[in-house]
Amino acid sequence: MRDLINELYQEQTLSKANLINLLLHINDEEREYLYEKAYSVRYEHYKNSVYVRGLIEFSNYCKNDCTYCGISIHNKELTRYHMTPEEVIKTAEIGYSLGFRTFVMQGGEDTSFTDDKFAAIISSIKTQFPEAAVTLSIGERSKESYQKLYDAGADRFLIRHETINKNLYEKLHPKMSYENRIKSLFDLKDIGFQVGTGFMVGVPGQEIEDIADDLLFIKELNPHMIGIGPFIPHKNTPLRDESAGSAELTYTLIAILRLMLPTSLIPSTTSLATLKSENRYKGFRVGANVVMPNLTPYDYKKSYQLYDGKKITDTESYEALEQLKKECLDAGFYIDMARGDYKNWRRK
Ligand code: 5AD
Repeated sequence: MRDLINELYQEQTLSKANLINLLLHINDEEREYLYEKAYSVRYEHYKNSVYVRGLIEFSNYCKNDCTYCGISIHNKELTRYHMTPEEVIKTAEIGYSLGFRTFVMQGGEDTSFTDDKFAAIISSIKTQFPEAAVTLSIGERSKESYQKLYDAGADRFLIRHETINKNLYEKLHPKMSYENRIKSLFDLKDIGFQVGTGFMVGVPGQEIEDIADDLLFIKELNPHMIGIGPFIPHKNTPLRDESAGSAELTYTLIAILRLMLPTSLIPSTTSLATLKSENRYKGFRVGANVVMPNLTPYDYKKSYQLYDGKKITDTESYEALEQLKKECLDAGFYIDMARGDYKNWRRK
């Protein structure tokens, strides 16, 4: 196993068979060795820094039917909201005054948010705060639409591929197109966005072989950002009775991805911290270097539950930025308030 880990460290990839072998047979001691290697690569590129992104969950309306997600069209119990453009901008202003230099607009696929509406919000934020970055996490759109949003000033785009197994993708998203999902990622890269992909660990139906394929797909796509976190069931979804994904496997995959894509931006995700809040810091120790505190106003964010138990008041929230800074320091890391672009990224 150590030889495989060394090979991964040196070559920044492994064959599918070796990835499967590693994932299936790694023991605790070898896992520690993997974590140390991943930490050393993180340290080489980012020292002990952690970038912060202020999350603005602007809408929980969604037309999609993702079977795992608490804001999907399946959930009839949910109070739906969308923030007005003024509210989104105001939220960014509050974030800016706290020191945030990246705003992530995340929402369901809400058809009331047209290109023009997004473009107006983006350009307003960018005009007021030219040195801040705007990240979008708004789902699938046409390439023309993505281009408009890029031209309006958006810098980054998050859209997880969720799984590269077409069969599983279609089970998890009965009405969505696998091909369109993958196309979005390539379109976004082509336009010039910093692009983030990723997947859930332990989503029902996922096999170790699928995970190996996900890792190799990510290596091939070569994204700037990679978000992975455990699946957590939500009570108003078809997957309500399934069990959550494992934190240990999530750490292992963060570490492997740090070795495969050494300079990538990898968050220690809210879902990982939802399993147990200390997990966030362990995420940093195994290779993650980003955290995304929530700037969404309280009355809205309580209705933005992608999974059960999602934290809305602890260190995940912006009111607790000072607490987060302190906890990071206690864990040996420090918050870097810079906007934290991918190395050498330039707008096209
Ligand atoms: N558990 C964990 N992560 C989830 N996501 C959606 N629903 C869940 C869930 N139940 C993730 C998806 C999506 C991202 C915004 O949140 O991977 O891309």
